[in-house]
Amino acid sequence: MAITTRELIQWKQQKRQIVALTAWDCAIAQLLDAAGVDLILVGDSMAVVLGYETTLPVTLEEMLHHAKAVRRGVKRALIVVDLPFLSYQESIPQAIHSAGRVLKETGAQAVKLEGGYPAMVRTITRLVEAGIPVMGHVGLTPQSVHQIGLRQQGKTEAARQQILQQAIALEKAGVFSIVLEHIPSDLACQITEKLSIPTIGIGAGPYCDGQVLVTSDVLGLSEKQPPFAKVYTDLRSEIIKAVQNYSLEVRERRFPQSSD
Ligand code: KIV
Repeated sequence: MAITTRELIQWKQQKRQIVALTAWDCAIAQLLDAAGVDLILVGDSMAVVLGYETTLPVTLEEMLHHAKAVRRGVKRALIVVDLPFLSYQESIPQAIHSAGRVLKETGAQAVKLEGGYPAMVRTITRLVEAGIPVMGHVGLTPQSVHQIGLRQQGKTEAARQQILQQAIALEKAGVFSIVLEHIPSDLACQITEKLSIPTIGIGAGPYCDGQVLVTSDVLGLSEKQPPFAKVYTDLRSEIIKAVQNYSLEVRERRFPQSSD
């Protein structure tokens, strides 16, 4: 049975942690789903596999293409797709059009948008009114990299208050969950206690209602990871080793063996 946004809200009341990871293709999505991941985020962090330096160049067409591939690999997990930079900030009709395309064309169940400023809260209110489930994202918002960098947010009292108020406003606007990225643990704890929707932390400490990481970081495929990521296996080394072994065997004519 596929997981729904409503179930995730119930899990918060039951104190059941939400396990989330990113996927950008069918093969990885299948593995995550088979391993029992609850929420798969088709994040615009896919900039990594597209060879972009930041998430800014990622287009809606690229998100749709990859989200369709992820959808084909998933049976149980809830699929959330990032709306990429400038596919929702221009106007409410633009946001409804982009989010609507994600739901109609990919079969994903929800979209994620960055930011908690009043204009974004108004946009999210309209998306939710249109029947589109939305996940919020506050703290470090990578689409604003040229304004805020990639450093931890919420370090001053004023910044803490701003993030808390944004999270409260997003809940009122109707988001079913909020990603809290790279903020102090005690702030994430305060937000998690204040809200009745689940918080999903990334670099936000242990007190959130769930955790998300970028799968290429977890698998050791990224060249460099953010400071809060945990690498659970070193697939980069494993892949290089396997390819070197294959190359050696081909060069030495040890592979393939004769076939009849
Ligand atoms: O794009 C992404 O992968 C994300 C996560 C880092 C939360 O937004």
